[in-house]
Amino acid sequence: MAQRETWTSRVGFIFAAVGSAVGLGNIWSFPFQTASNGGAAFLVVYLFAVFLIGFPTMLIEFVIGRRSKQNAVSAFSELGYGNWTFAGAIGVFASFITLSFYSVVGGWVISYIVGSVTGGYLGQASTFFGSVSSGTVAIGAHALFMAITIAIVAGGVANGIERATKVMIPAILVLLVGLAAWGSTLTGSAAGYAYYLSPDFGVLAANVGSIVPSAMGQAFFTLSLGFGVMIAYASYLGRDDSLPADSAIIVVLNTIVALLAGFAVFPILAATDALTGSTGAGTAFVALAGAFGQLPAGQIIGLVFFVVLLFAALSSSISLLEAPSSYVVDRYGIDRPKVAVGVGLVSFVIGIVPAYGYVGLFNDFVFNILLPIAVLFIALFAGWIVDADAIKELGQGSVVGSIPGTAPLTTLWLWWVRIVVPIAVIITLYLGVTNFYT
Ligand code: PHE
Ligand code: NA
Repeated sequence: MAQRETWTSRVGFIFAAVGSAVGLGNIWSFPFQTASNGGAAFLVVYLFAVFLIGFPTMLIEFVIGRRSKQNAVSAFSELGYGNWTFAGAIGVFASFITLSFYSVVGGWVISYIVGSVTGGYLGQASTFFGSVSSGTVAIGAHALFMAITIAIVAGGVANGIERATKVMIPAILVLLVGLAAWGSTLTGSAAGYAYYLSPDFGVLAANVGSIVPSAMGQAFFTLSLGFGVMIAYASYLGRDDSLPADSAIIVVLNTIVALLAGFAVFPILAATDALTGSTGAGTAFVALAGAFGQLPAGQIIGLVFFVVLLFAALSSSISLLEAPSSYVVDRYGIDRPKVAVGVGLVSFVIGIVPAYGYVGLFNDFVFNILLPIAVLFIALFAGWIVDADAIKELGQGSVVGSIPGTAPLTTLWLWWVRIVVPIAVIITLYLGVTNFYT
């Protein structure tokens, strides 16, 4: 490989990372997981997972990436621990499997764009979801979404998408705030807020075995952690970027988008009596399409919303395809466009299974098994294997390192990564396996 590029600006890096983080995980998966796991009981655990486990884990991936300047697999050998490359490989595998069902849900978004134009979902939000979410229509739309993703990665024009992120994030925020405001005026919305925001600790206690793994999986998924994606992005970072500050921006922005999606979805669900119905993976789509069916100019607002959502999904799916592709390119020296097409095609074929109604199954496997395993190894590696001085370079160029007297924070972080993160993830994994696979 030639001279390695670096991000032209700190902002460029943050936008790429935010582009990867903000996606269907925020607007589709978060409301769906929250709705199916007891509402606020889930939300509480999720927020702990994001800030206490996700945030320190993002720092690990950034440190490994910046220090090694390699993709997620080579990073481990570059740092001198060749027998740990499997840890990166698990992440690459997770990207590949995730892409297969992510693209199916991306296909749903395409169908909703079409539905906005034709008016297909107006007044029949749940019937429409049923007709596009599985079967032939779903496969066709999945093929189209994957083709777009492949074209972007193969064409090396991902920068264009990342630039689009700068417009997309504010657009999503404005649209969600507008929908949330409208939702608050609906009769019956109060029940939605209650379900979303006031935790029933009885529900939590009774369902700890399913809430914890779902919340932790959602936290990793939504922050793009455990995939090696953030390792790869940080490999282009310059020495003097502040990793803690960058991580904080990414985590907070991502959380705001998810919370807003909840504020839009739950009052609408409650107002249409759909809160108790088992909408599952359709939760967000049914609620939002229901809203567009009632809003003045709803078709146009719906069209804009789903187009923006498509961009958000694409800026995530390209990073999902990028991870396995760049590994194959580096490892076997095959042309990048060919690799992107090949990897994307195989992922498409695997995605035919979720397109027949098994999105939930794939989702659970990634959330409960793949991501916790990947994060566990990354944390063990950072905490116990790589020499502590290397990992403490977190402080380098960072707010933490440059303010005298704040070095203890770096030490706290290191011990957090050594002890708390692995224990939390092992518990998650245990609960996830027993709850879902026995
Ligand atoms: N974080 C993305 C989302 O919330 C999903 C994703 C995971 C994208 C990993 C890229 C890599 O939609
Ligand atoms: Na996200």
